[in-house]
Amino acid sequence: MAIVIKTSEEIAGMRKACRLASEVLDYITPYVKVGVATIELDRMMNDFMKAHGAVSACLGYAPAGYKPYPAATCISINHVVCHGIPSEKALKKGDIVNIDVTVILDGFYGDTSRMFIVGDKVSVSAKHLVDATYECMWRGIAAIAPGKSLNEVGIACERVARAEGLSVVHEYGGHGVGRHFHEDPFVSHYNTPDNNIILKPGMIFTVEPMLNAGSRHISGLNDGWTVITRDRSLSAQWEHTVLVTETGYEVLTISDGYPPIPDYIHC
Ligand code: MF3
Ligand code: CO
Ligand code: CO
Repeated sequence: MAIVIKTSEEIAGMRKACRLASEVLDYITPYVKVGVATIELDRMMNDFMKAHGAVSACLGYAPAGYKPYPAATCISINHVVCHGIPSEKALKKGDIVNIDVTVILDGFYGDTSRMFIVGDKVSVSAKHLVDATYECMWRGIAAIAPGKSLNEVGIACERVARAEGLSVVHEYGGHGVGRHFHEDPFVSHYNTPDNNIILKPGMIFTVEPMLNAGSRHISGLNDGWTVITRDRSLSAQWEHTVLVTETGYEVLTISDGYPPIPDYIHC
């Protein structure tokens, strides 16, 4: 599938969908607390999406070889790498949690995720993993500019992971996004020298590195979705949807409640 260059109308639609996805996370932030069941967070986010004229892209999503995804969001705790299915299980003090939201608004997909630390105490290593993964995502985004190779994103992400003693998950990556959930290109978060896609204004894709405290290897649970670290070490992920502009990049999944953005980022 060729990479779609978005028209200005499509870019306008993506700005709205992406902002709403980020607002879903703003909305849920105060509820990510000790004792809450993740299914309850999922229900609240699903209601919020609907109240804002959108639907979840995840609910019922069934790519080839998968059964339909059963919830509105993905909530991945501790050693869960991604695609954690919300459940009756309650959050505990010191958990690190990724909440990944993808909305469909007026036919456009906005995709973003953030990490949350549950309670006021977390291990130094868990906090380091969360913070280093945040920097990893932002350094990857900062490598985006028209005329540059997409592989620069992977190189930048991998550099942070290595410097921090963390590993990069290979099997999952970012993706083009627009009128479809997962479009070309695949965005690798490590150096893949054969990737020589040249970035062009109007491309929109996600940057969503998954970093593990232990080895990069993963396994899948038999629910058909949940991905965990093979060694059960902690894993973290942050995600933005980003537009390639004439001069650099525009991060689309930003909203008023977004956490502080590093000073090397211009957005
Ligand atoms: N939001 C995820 C991504 O970043 C995809 C989740 S697919 C689901 O690409 F079906 F698990 F929700
Ligand atoms: Co994504
Ligand atoms: Co996502």
